[in-house]
Amino acid sequence: MARKVGPDEQGWCVDVSGEPIVNKGLRNVCVDESKICFIDGSSGRLFYRGYRIEDLAKYSCFEETAYLLIYGKLPTREELNNFSDHLKEERELPDSAIRILKLIQKDTNPIEVLRTVVSFLGTIDPDKHDRSREGRHRKAIRLIAKIPTIIAYTYRIRNELELISPDPTLNHAENFLYMFHGEKPSSSSAKELDLALILYAEHENNASAFAAVVIASTLSDYYSAIVGGIGALRGFLHGYAIVEAMNQFDEIGTPDNVEKWFNEGILTGRRRLIGFGHRVYKTYDPRAKIFRECARKCAKENGGNIRKYYEIAKKLEDIALASKLTEKGIYTNVDYWSGIVFYSLGIPPAFYCTLFAMARVVGWTAHILEYIENNKIIRPRYYYKGEIEKKYIPIDERG
Ligand SMILES: CC(C)(COP(=O)(O)OP(=O)(O)OC[C@H]1O[C@@H](n2cnc3c(N)ncnc32)[C@H](O)[C@@H]1OP(=O)(O)O)[C@@H](O)C(=O)NCCC(=O)NCCS
Repeated sequence: MARKVGPDEQGWCVDVSGEPIVNKGLRNVCVDESKICFIDGSSGRLFYRGYRIEDLAKYSCFEETAYLLIYGKLPTREELNNFSDHLKEERELPDSAIRILKLIQKDTNPIEVLRTVVSFLGTIDPDKHDRSREGRHRKAIRLIAKIPTIIAYTYRIRNELELISPDPTLNHAENFLYMFHGEKPSSSSAKELDLALILYAEHENNASAFAAVVIASTLSDYYSAIVGGIGALRGFLHGYAIVEAMNQFDEIGTPDNVEKWFNEGILTGRRRLIGFGHRVYKTYDPRAKIFRECARKCAKENGGNIRKYYEIAKKLEDIALASKLTEKGIYTNVDYWSGIVFYSLGIPPAFYCTLFAMARVVGWTAHILEYIENNKIIRPRYYYKGEIEKKYIPIDERG
């Protein structure tokens, strides 16, 4: 790798030969120091604030993990109860936001609906002019609490179902499923969603977290930063991959068709395998291992379509992991198996990117809060390769 020897007279970082160093896609570039998340991409380990993802998945709950990520330490019981109560108090959506939800065309992608309503909430937040640390924390709790309500109401409005008020006796995951389906979830369904929210809560400097932090670094407002994060998440190279992975399984159709589909589409290099590959992991994503096990259990317990999805996914994964993809470090990522778990919760695929956002708003918040404590506007360069000093020709003389 080229060694940086410092900025030249244009401000470009140059290597020993004086050539500007261009890291396309900011690959391997550190934009700051952080204490939130560590991804060990070569051995497939992930830590939130120093804790292994496997331990959080086994012992924690979404609310506790959210507290850990935002405040930097595991809460005491009292701190967790206060935090959870605070979230419960903020779940209701104001009538004006419900009216906006009803105005949006019903065929709008749910993640775009979420982006729009989050943006609207920023205009009516009682702390919208408060730029203090405490004000930012209040806004964050309000938004983390309201996102599940926005998603559930989007689903219910487009299906002409009555809106279900949040139930303060239920935790974050239970209450979401209750508002979405209109009935209390089984404890196993609620636990599966809670687990998924932990696994999706944070992932270092991914595109959406970076987008959010770039916006926050201009000293813009919290809601604008989150709207930017949601916008970045919506692309299928990032969060929308969960939806596209399910589309891919649908396109394959049956386990018998997997090998032909893989050989013709992926091995020929005509297309990418969705749910595979990662900028940082060059081995199996540890979150995908947990989702794989959860999907296996769901398939065993439920049968039907869930089993069919599982069998297609399993066969496709086996073939991909035995192929030349792994020579390039392309392995299963988090979005490969998670859709099957969400499907088993009775949630339609179009909503899976919103579930990702429902969890990841925590990580975005943690990064925004950390970065602006010691802010520096994020303003990288392009290495200019075009011409300069060109002669301006008036429009009528251009031929
Ligand atoms: C996640 C992703 C965008 C990372 O991209 P990246 O770090 O920029 O990697 P690159 O696009 O530079 O890919 C490097 C090489 O691997 C190949 N590659 C990467 N992901 C691939 C995939 N899923 N299927 C097939 N080939 C893939 C590229 O074609 C490229 O090959 P080349 O060197 O022969 O040109 C990429 O792996 C991808 O598109 N995955 C599919 C979408 C997905 O699952 N997204 C969710 C991510 S959590």
